[in-house]
Amino acid sequence: MSINYAEKIPNNVDLAHDRTLQRALEHWQPHFLQWWHEMGPSDFEQADVYLRTATSVDAKGWASYGAVKMPEYRWGIFLAEQQPGRTIGFGDQMGQPVWQQVPGEHRSTLRRLIVTQGDTEPASVEQQRLLGHLCPSLYDLRNLFQINVEEGRHLWAMVYLLHAYFGRDGREEAEELLARHSGDADKPRILTTFNEPISDWLSLYCFTYFTDRDGKYQLKSFAESGFDPLSRTCRFMLTEEAHHMFVGETGIGRVVKRTLEVMKELGSDDPAKVRAHGAVDLPLLQKYINFWCSSSLDLFGSEISSNAAASFANGLKGRPDESQYQDHVLRDASLRLDTPEGVQDVPMLNALNEVMRESYLKDCEIGLKRWNRAIERAGYEFRLTLPSSRFRRSIGSWVGLPVDPGGKLLPKDDYERRLYEWVPSPEDKSFVKSLMQKVVEPGKMAAWIAPPERGINSLPLDYEYVHLS
Ligand SMILES: [Fe+2]
Ligand SMILES: [Fe+2]
Repeated sequence: MSINYAEKIPNNVDLAHDRTLQRALEHWQPHFLQWWHEMGPSDFEQADVYLRTATSVDAKGWASYGAVKMPEYRWGIFLAEQQPGRTIGFGDQMGQPVWQQVPGEHRSTLRRLIVTQGDTEPASVEQQRLLGHLCPSLYDLRNLFQINVEEGRHLWAMVYLLHAYFGRDGREEAEELLARHSGDADKPRILTTFNEPISDWLSLYCFTYFTDRDGKYQLKSFAESGFDPLSRTCRFMLTEEAHHMFVGETGIGRVVKRTLEVMKELGSDDPAKVRAHGAVDLPLLQKYINFWCSSSLDLFGSEISSNAAASFANGLKGRPDESQYQDHVLRDASLRLDTPEGVQDVPMLNALNEVMRESYLKDCEIGLKRWNRAIERAGYEFRLTLPSSRFRRSIGSWVGLPVDPGGKLLPKDDYERRLYEWVPSPEDKSFVKSLMQKVVEPGKMAAWIAPPERGINSLPLDYEYVHLS
């Protein structure tokens, strides 16, 4: 079904034929807009931003591009096409028809899963709200705003499910999604990573590389769900999500490129000299990677989890790309887990968070390989690495243990003394902050980052991607 743009809320779910639902969502809409006004990008409401807007859920040509003022963005409800005859692809009810309504016995679990996913979407917009004032270029500013409006749309996606399938509880949860705020002392967002401040663009690139990639893995596992509306919603969200990770991967790549240019100019890889020259030294970038990667790894939950087992067995949440596996029931499988108490054999169903974390880490490696190739070609020994998944755990069997990024357990005072060798220290952060000078002349870049290889949607790099009035 095509998207109806004539309506107040663009949608491809035939909202006009469900007056009650339509009224409920039209009631929520001004609350959303008020939230955007208060918590969205600060001070850029009058700017014309070259944004893409979803106009179809067809894989070819799903979006149109044009100048839009962000508060006028057409946030809507778009589900991927229904697949006729779709059956549950994993768990104890494998092979049975998928559900078009929420099964009563899974209602509270599904609601919790949807609320937890939904909470991350507005949270990231809040985390990024001040970054526009420090942008390295108009190209980057546009990409930030593109991500922000799409995270807003992802909130709409989850709110639609809550309103359409969870009655009054769902409507209350939708209000709560606008009431919690990132970093708020009284009403924080649900997950820790989404309460971390993002106050510079190096953090933004790491966040979009690592944390949006966690989003990709969560969405992929929901795309497998036996609850068909959730599956369809997440399949379309993944289309948008790819751009967010592109911003992270190319952003870090451009930082590496610029740093290598500076190192070449200086004939030195001395971090102090690189910094004095206004670039991000590679060991500093490594600290940002350590911080955001380890923080994002927590989002997968405990290595051993009965919730993960139940969600899988009940057909609510699969593994990303479930079809690539042989066994979709997992009643007889186990996984060897390295715990502080030694190696343990854990029933595979209980170890699914770890399975997901491992496939996520493999996906994270792709960018590192690319960046390291650039460093190698430039003739330097330094290599960027991912921290061990035991480093800085605040959940699971390694919680709170003094483990270094290589995965080695250390005496606690060694760990504490050396922590700022591995994650950004206050001085590192203030140095990075000092680099963040706003550049808004079309085609110009801040000195700490290389220009991208190409512009947006085949436009030239010096196109005025954001027209500031
Ligand atoms: Fe999202
Ligand atoms: Fe995202």
